[in-house]
Amino acid sequence: MANNGSVLVTGASGYIGSHSGYDVVALDNFTNCVQGPNGESVALRRVEEITGKKIVFYPCDLLDVDFLKKIFEQHNIASVIHFAAMKAVGESMQFPLLYYKNNLIGMINLLEMMKEHNIFNLVFSSSCTVYGEPEKLPITEENETGKNVTNVYGRTKYFVEEMLRDLSKADERWNIIALRYFNPVGAHKTGKIGEDPTKPFTNLMPFISQVAIGKKDIVTILGDDYQTPDGTGVRDYIHVMDLATGHVSAMNKLEKGKFGIKFYNLGTGKGVSVLQLIKTFETVNKVKVPYVILPRREGDICEMYADPKLAENELGWKAKHTLEEMCADFWLWQTLNPNGYKLDTAHTNGH
Ligand code: WQD
Repeated sequence: MANNGSVLVTGASGYIGSHSGYDVVALDNFTNCVQGPNGESVALRRVEEITGKKIVFYPCDLLDVDFLKKIFEQHNIASVIHFAAMKAVGESMQFPLLYYKNNLIGMINLLEMMKEHNIFNLVFSSSCTVYGEPEKLPITEENETGKNVTNVYGRTKYFVEEMLRDLSKADERWNIIALRYFNPVGAHKTGKIGEDPTKPFTNLMPFISQVAIGKKDIVTILGDDYQTPDGTGVRDYIHVMDLATGHVSAMNKLEKGKFGIKFYNLGTGKGVSVLQLIKTFETVNKVKVPYVILPRREGDICEMYADPKLAENELGWKAKHTLEEMCADFWLWQTLNPNGYKLDTAHTNGH
């Protein structure tokens, strides 16, 4: 894919640049990923090993407008993929101001800097959480958003979506795609890069994997009294590499022409329960994952899964990886990196 400029990737996980054929300028503030001893991003360094491509990286926080300005002035940026946001549901309820400041002000700073440099192509990392408790399943992009959102994190994603809608109405130069991820799991097939939150995590898959490897004792299943086939919560788990190709498809669409703003679900269209995920993980990886049933977690939704047809029709994108691959790839990452990216001298400046 020829491109006459760089792609700025905020909150860079690095998957996209390594698969996009674009030159990537990456930034991250290290609040939830490991910083190497020389201030570099350990994850991106591994991406360079995998791809043999250099990635320009800056330890920049989107709240640092002066640093952000320098990056825009030093590079010929043609488009932006915006991942950077805090995303822990529980933490967002404890520290709402931190989440609004980081996720909203950070976005506003980025948008202002883009406008100042005449850059209007944006892929925004949104979330299925904007749908709240779905009125109908499977969830299409026509489902109402914002009304039943149950947590601050989800509200920041919803507010940013509304901000982007208003922006594209006010100024036709904006060309935006918001990708609503369902539940990202899995890792790169090499096992070199994967999910390694430096903050306490609450997501299911890392728990399953850490119990399987013996770093945690038991998985707590949060509720088995939902109106689902086995009573446990149902989600649409999607391989992180399918998310990566979804972003490349979105970038390609932005390059083909202007359309204002569009929203797409990135999901498989298949609902999987907590128990099903645990059993699949055990079978695929030949491990045991003991669990205990506890009461529901406040704010949890019973069942969510996508109708991914719009992205298939308009982006030419479809999730390809199976649940078994998600479990196998996550386990490969876990077993090859029992301590994630942690280095002896690594540090993060997590809040
Ligand atoms: C999945 C299922 C839990 C932990 C969150 C964000 C969402 C998105 C994905 C970014 C639910 C159950 C969980 C545990 C359990 N993130 N569970 N025991 O809450 O669906 O979504 O991550 O885009 O925006 O809200 O993910 O992995 O926490 O929960 O039984 O220890 O597993 O009840 O049914 P969730 P999750």
